[in-house]
Amino acid sequence: MSNVSTAEQQRDFEVYNYEVVRRFTIMTVAFGIIGMAVGVYLAALMIWPGISMEIPWLSFGRLRPLHTNAVIFAFGGSALFASSLFVVQRTCQVRLISDGLASVVFWGWMLVIASAVVTLPLGITTSKEYAELEWPIDLLITVVWVLYAILYFGTIMKRKVAHIYVANWFFGAFIVTVAVLHILNSLAIPVHLGKSYPVYSGAVDAMVQWWYGHNAVGFFLTAGFLGMMYYFVPKQAERPVYSYRLSIVHFWALVAVYIWAGPHHLHYTALPDWAQSLGMVMSLILLAPSWGGMINGIMTLSGAWHKLRTDPIIRFLIVSLSFYGMSTFEGPMMSIKTVNALSHYTDWTIGHVHSGALGWVAMISIGAIYYLVPILFGRKQMYSIVWINWHFWMSTIGTVLYIASMWVNGIVQGLMWRAYNADGTLTYSFAESIQASYPGYLVRFIGGFIFLAGMFLMAWNVYKTIREEGVRDWAPSEPPSEPATGATVQGAAA
Ligand code: HEM
Ligand code: HEM
Repeated sequence: MSNVSTAEQQRDFEVYNYEVVRRFTIMTVAFGIIGMAVGVYLAALMIWPGISMEIPWLSFGRLRPLHTNAVIFAFGGSALFASSLFVVQRTCQVRLISDGLASVVFWGWMLVIASAVVTLPLGITTSKEYAELEWPIDLLITVVWVLYAILYFGTIMKRKVAHIYVANWFFGAFIVTVAVLHILNSLAIPVHLGKSYPVYSGAVDAMVQWWYGHNAVGFFLTAGFLGMMYYFVPKQAERPVYSYRLSIVHFWALVAVYIWAGPHHLHYTALPDWAQSLGMVMSLILLAPSWGGMINGIMTLSGAWHKLRTDPIIRFLIVSLSFYGMSTFEGPMMSIKTVNALSHYTDWTIGHVHSGALGWVAMISIGAIYYLVPILFGRKQMYSIVWINWHFWMSTIGTVLYIASMWVNGIVQGLMWRAYNADGTLTYSFAESIQASYPGYLVRFIGGFIFLAGMFLMAWNVYKTIREEGVRDWAPSEPPSEPATGATVQGAAA
């Protein structure tokens, strides 16, 4: 790699495999744009249904799973691959065990995504949410994931430092648990290449599906991103983690409790009542370990709060933690049965999802990417810090418009559906509740559009950073430097 700005960076380019991290980083930006563009289209479809022109593969039913798969597994997945493979090398101070294996993992994951892009719009689906892909693709996912686990844990095993930095604990839990969830939930009997039936049936099938579904949230959308947080927040803040002890305590509490919370997705269903109540209680307890992570991240900024005024990357990271705190307060509340009786099936759930997805998952990934790109491409910093700042505000405003409009819609829908007249008939028809939701859908569309526009700005900034050496804007603070010796300090990332 030419144009490397310092001798230290030059050394890192030789020691570490940055190639696979670079590829996943670029794909994160690309998939972010594609997945969110589909989201904006779906949001538009809720206001102007005619724009699908009745073409089946442009319909809501087919493109909704494409959106969820693209944003979670393509965008979020690429961000997790990029950051975990970067962090494991830096904190263990060794190169990945095999460049060839890293390349297979990259191309394997791209093949999974390409298969999803083809099959979902064609209507080939298991119809299990977040596990829609049919059995041949499930098998491919399993192979790629096992290779990823070998690459990741193999690198940990040959590490040069005794200590395993806490970010790796979270990435490790994410990799192991997602493997178990995926394999157990995908067990199915194939009928032909494009169709299979699950080995489970009835309430058991629902329970396994939501054990998977909720832990996809807990381990894919949470544990992995906490791993990201534990590296990039201390790095960008140039402070050690606030409390190493807290990180260990909330790690074990989080993994122990998350796995029980799935039944909150099945309140008032055929699932035994005790299982629903257990899911509710475990979800309430989950507030504590979740907030442990949020507090540890935010408090890492102690003594460096002033950076929030000048450093937009820190803003992305810290605001994402605030959204994480907010959605993990809201989640336990929604898991209370009587609250869920109002929120379930309404846009409130969609608002909750996106306060986690846009506010937490997307914003922490964006912060991490702005940190990574200059390092990976041998630049002093991003091409434009001013644009990062613009992006930060677009993301924040976009997220707030999205979630606030869905809260209002959700509560309006929930209340309208449960309103009865004195004679026992419904006060409102379903169509009237949709009519009342239009203003919210318009605000959500505008919010989503602004968020997506910010992603385009990011893509342009990344492109300019890669293409042009040199820095356009004044840097608010010196970019964080890697420790010269690379020694791992307890509580600080290497
Ligand atoms: C510009 C940004 C985005 C827009 C406009 C958008 C829009 C939408 C829309 C319209 C739906 C369907 C809602 C419904 O069925 O009523 C949806 C669902 C969903 N989106 Fe997004 N989305 C965006 C970004 C994201 C991101 C970044 C993620 C994850 C990292 C995400 C995850 C999801 C999930 C999980 C669902 C399904 C929710 C459920 O079933 O309860 N979205 N999105
Ligand atoms: C303590 C943490 C959390 C708890 C207890 C929790 C709880 C809940 C509850 C009760 C629901 C509604 C279920 C229903 O009525 O169908 C829900 C839905 C959802 N939550 Fe959370 N939540 C938490 C954190 C998060 C976070 C951080 C994210 C995203 C990053 C997230 C993503 C989702 C998604 C995608 C759904 C929709 C699932 C679906 O129906 O398709 N949650 N959550």
